[in-house]
Amino acid sequence: MKLVCPIQIRDAHCRVDRVLDGSARDPTQARRALTTLPRIYRIFVTADTVVQRSGILDRFGIFLCCGGTGWHAGNCTHCTHVRRVQFRLTPTIDFVQSLPGFPPKAPDSHESYRMEWLPPPDDHPTPSLIVHGGIVDRNLSRMQSYCNDHSLNLRPHTKTHKSLEMAKRQLAVGAVGLTVAKVGEAEIMSRVCSDVFIAYPAVGSHRLARIATLGKSHRISIGIDSLAAAKSLQDAAASQSCKLGVLVDLEVGFFRTGVEDPKNAIALCEFVASQKNLDFRGVMCFPGHILPSADDSVWYAYTDSLAKVIDQLQSRSIPVPIVSGGSTPSAMQSHRNPLLNEIRPGTYIYNDMNEVRLGVATLDDCAARVLATVVSTPNRNKFIVDAGSKTLSSDRNCVDADSGFGYVVEFPDAKISRLSEEHGEVVLPEASPSKPPRVGDRIWIIPNHICVSVNLQNSFYLLEQETLDQLPVDARGMLV
Ligand SMILES: Cc1ncc(COP(=O)(O)O)c(C=O)c1O
Repeated sequence: MKLVCPIQIRDAHCRVDRVLDGSARDPTQARRALTTLPRIYRIFVTADTVVQRSGILDRFGIFLCCGGTGWHAGNCTHCTHVRRVQFRLTPTIDFVQSLPGFPPKAPDSHESYRMEWLPPPDDHPTPSLIVHGGIVDRNLSRMQSYCNDHSLNLRPHTKTHKSLEMAKRQLAVGAVGLTVAKVGEAEIMSRVCSDVFIAYPAVGSHRLARIATLGKSHRISIGIDSLAAAKSLQDAAASQSCKLGVLVDLEVGFFRTGVEDPKNAIALCEFVASQKNLDFRGVMCFPGHILPSADDSVWYAYTDSLAKVIDQLQSRSIPVPIVSGGSTPSAMQSHRNPLLNEIRPGTYIYNDMNEVRLGVATLDDCAARVLATVVSTPNRNKFIVDAGSKTLSSDRNCVDADSGFGYVVEFPDAKISRLSEEHGEVVLPEASPSKPPRVGDRIWIIPNHICVSVNLQNSFYLLEQETLDQLPVDARGMLV
């Protein structure tokens, strides 16, 4: 089997071989480990020529043995045509797919079939958010299987559903814990989960005391990107004699939070690791800029921005147990960054028109819809529904800002062109073949951004087979 590193592409990476004991220090031991270890490692290679998989370990065995994990660079000792090689030793099983005897699995096999949305009874109140239990379960198991296939831990972000029922379903199919943004959300989710990650800089004494209280009974981790946050977390944890986990937030291209300079990131990690009441659990990032169409160079850049910090930490003997990334658009391609061992998608549970227009989900994968009533039909081409910005949110579509404020299932050619708080104005094109609705008709709307829409509802209705149960949006409106 030949692995081809694109010639003259300086930072080309390719998968080379399967087993390596990064801790082995002498060549004989390492060679034995290479063939006997059950754990599987991916090795990235940077080269400027074609590399023979069979020969690579022998050629570079010497410096592989010397370095432990992390990047190892050097020239081939046996030939001149491979001038420079870098190895990255990272536990993963993804590249098993490329080995003989392991049939490739499609990571994003996207079996999507229509599930029936039974219309609620005529007296069902509108506007109301209705969630299809069958589609939820399918979305959950699809993401969980992907993670299982790629040895990734799934720690879903609960910002999308804010519901204990949905959190329980995520945990039941295999989530290792939950992610939240707010302390209030952490308090709610801790009712069903002992391991909660607050992926948001917990700054301010109004947050810290509550986090520390939670930390006494639960495994709590917090994502931070500043020394100030680390110091105040340490103080809060010390004052309640508890230990709080910390993941240092690294900037990887989205340019929101996250330490940008690797040197500062390393210093912050070292500081956290030195604190008595803080437990350095690894690093997090938010790759929100990575779209499904991203090519290899984007993924390599993403990998490298994490590697710059992780390598240094490992060489300073600071273990990095968790490398947490992922948001829904890139979640099912997370195996393209071999450093990740955890992902935190949120929207995947319900999906929305953002995901549909991004090409990540189909309309049939959208598990949450707003049921609305037509309250006025001012002219043949326009009708008004009782779902306005108070229900749908004013979020425009992230791919096509001009596509309106959601998708009307019964009128695919219609556009929700304007929202007031209580009014949704829907316009049909002049030549629309659709028969306009009448006052009193009900329509389904798939919102652009479901997380925000969910946060606007006190409760939602769970459609399960033929039953419709009203459930609270338990963690809605948690500002702190
Ligand atoms: C830090 C963090 N992690 C994970 C997520 C989940 O991303 P998505 O909703 O795209 O799945 C978000 C969403 O905003 C986030 O801010």
